[in-house]
Amino acid sequence: MQNYASEDRYIKELDPKKHEIALSTEDLHVFYGTSEAIHGVSLPFERFKITALIGASGSGKSTYLRSLNRMNDNIEGTRVDGKIMYRDIDINGKGVNVYEMRKHIGMVFQRPNPFSKSIYDNITFAPKRNGIKNKKVLDELVETTLKQAALWDQVKDQLDQSALALSGGQQQRLCIARAIAMKPDILLLDEPASALDPISTSTVEDTLLSLKDHYTIIIVTHNMQQAGRISDYTAFFHLGNVLEYDITSNVFQRPKIQATEDYVSGRFG
Ligand SMILES: Nc1ncnc2c1ncn2[C@@H]1O[C@H](COP(=O)(O)OP(=O)(O)O)[C@@H](O)[C@H]1O
Ligand SMILES: [Mg+2]
Repeated sequence: MQNYASEDRYIKELDPKKHEIALSTEDLHVFYGTSEAIHGVSLPFERFKITALIGASGSGKSTYLRSLNRMNDNIEGTRVDGKIMYRDIDINGKGVNVYEMRKHIGMVFQRPNPFSKSIYDNITFAPKRNGIKNKKVLDELVETTLKQAALWDQVKDQLDQSALALSGGQQQRLCIARAIAMKPDILLLDEPASALDPISTSTVEDTLLSLKDHYTIIIVTHNMQQAGRISDYTAFFHLGNVLEYDITSNVFQRPKIQATEDYVSGRFG
């Protein structure tokens, strides 16, 4: 199957101005044992934009996303071949300090997973481990990240209370705040709203839209409306390939191939 996204003409065609690419993959393959789950995907992720990864269940969205900050390293028997370019460095290469790299490329998971600690400690845990000890600096970090995650007004008087007492939507926004407390460039999110009710989903979406000014966001979603509402670019995954990549309105309104049209119009998947 032709991998349309591997042609870098896409980047040039979308806008005559130069688009800055924050992260990209080149011919990325992911294997679980001998089974190949991603068959050579090349995609650019533009800085300060939201890119949605869509496609049916099992099409490889999570596998691909996890590879972007080497989360697949944690899965026994997994092999990732190809380049993942970040600031002229192939972060899939040997000698990369994965721990350092993940400070730049953070991740938020499908189910909110706050630590069983206070709201304050959830946000300051990693920064403290990275040597930030000054209470005033930590206080400011808690306030700014909670504001960016649209949670500050709701929790500012209960920062010492357990994060587990928050609602699902609040927990997920706390996880977003925790991720951005490390001041990453890039935020990876795997279906961050799939476990949430519609109102919480909408607040998480608003949060992501407001974060776009500071972060490059890559989000897996199986929710077509969500992709349409928040993303600038969309990549359509099918059986471990990217069949189509374009600005979101084109993917949804003028898909180039039948498989995309079938998927976005709900005929399969
Ligand atoms: N840990 C794993 N071990 C073996 N196979 C896996 C693992 N995770 C996912 N897969 C397989 O890889 C393919 C892609 O899965 P996944 O990335 O989870 O797709 P999606 O996120 O689009 O639903 C599927 O065939 C799935 O069964
Ligand atoms: Mg998945």
